[in-house]
Amino acid sequence: MAEFQPRVFSGVQPTGNLHLGNYLGAVSRWVPLQDRMPTIFCVVDSHAITAGFPDPIELSEATREVTAAYMAAGIDPNKSIIFNQSQVREHMELAWIFNCVARMGWLNRMTQFKEKAGKNKENASVGLFAYPNLMAADILAYRGTHVPVGDDQKQHLELTRDIATKFNNDFGDRIKELGIGVPNPTPSPELPEQLYFPITEPMIAGPATRIMSLRDGTKKMSKSDPSDLSRINLTDDADTIAKKVRKAKTDPDALPSEVGGLEERPEADNLVGIFAALDGSSKEDVLKTFGGQQFSAFKPALAELAVTKLSPMTDEMRRLKEDKAQIDAVLKDGAEKASAIAEPVLKDVRKIIGFLDVR
Ligand code: TYM
Repeated sequence: MAEFQPRVFSGVQPTGNLHLGNYLGAVSRWVPLQDRMPTIFCVVDSHAITAGFPDPIELSEATREVTAAYMAAGIDPNKSIIFNQSQVREHMELAWIFNCVARMGWLNRMTQFKEKAGKNKENASVGLFAYPNLMAADILAYRGTHVPVGDDQKQHLELTRDIATKFNNDFGDRIKELGIGVPNPTPSPELPEQLYFPITEPMIAGPATRIMSLRDGTKKMSKSDPSDLSRINLTDDADTIAKKVRKAKTDPDALPSEVGGLEERPEADNLVGIFAALDGSSKEDVLKTFGGQQFSAFKPALAELAVTKLSPMTDEMRRLKEDKAQIDAVLKDGAEKASAIAEPVLKDVRKIIGFLDVR
């Protein structure tokens, strides 16, 4: 290979309900990429067991539901590879190798582990601690070059880059000797001339990289928030969506005319960002229209926009979900295509490391 083939990889965990943050921060941004480069979208069921095993029936149902959400949002199985992680063994194998590349110190710094493990760190699973290594394996099993995600995944992607950098360095001579490297596209003293793994680019941009809770503008919208009013679920019907927007927390002031005026106003900033992302515009544009207006005028407009944009998708998602055979067929086909890419990569990796191949 003369250069790394551009390839997008991203994924969502099948845990709890998919919400507006997952849609605006990730899935909706994947759709246009399908026409620009090869794209792989994974339902990361093996990550979904790190914070405790979900009910088995619920886990498989949630896996189908996330698949249905991908398709309803516009991910086309004829353009993109869609599959569930556990079906492609190479993820697990590469994750083990990365367990031996990543350093304890690196993982000790991961804020998501700290948040998820909480006070009872001793009782967290080893899988939760090693979670970012599996994420790096997801991406690098396909030598993924671009990863569109929300802002909360930034640190995990930095770790992915660190793992790729260390592997490329530790095995630099071997990679060169075997003739399976790719010239480093951005030469730097930190890296050898020939790389096996690309240094993945995070794609974190736009007005919706961090959608906040509708009840507290300082907290991220999340699947695990006990208050259902804090998030818009992709399974909510039109009335529920409108109700949640109406009940969203705000402050008493009118909307500002400039983006700078949103500083120190987290709830206002969040709702304006959601409007911009749903509308495909920017916060500046939204404030051009609504600057000076009260929330009593802005909220109904936002509710209407949310229902108009989300309802066709959520209806389609419900319809697709009923057709389990179709969903399973998409995942099966995707798993076969994904394996066809990951298998030769792992073959190379085993060779680079020196695992004796006798079969
Ligand atoms: P997960 O399942 O928590 O979230 C899926 C995607 O949704 C984004 N997201 C948000 N974006 C904006 N505002 C929010 N409030 C919000 N909440 C979630 C996340 O950033 C993510 O893009 N570790 C990942 C899944 C994963 C993965 C990967 C992603 C596993 N392997 C490889 C990319 C590449 C996760 O738990 O996402």
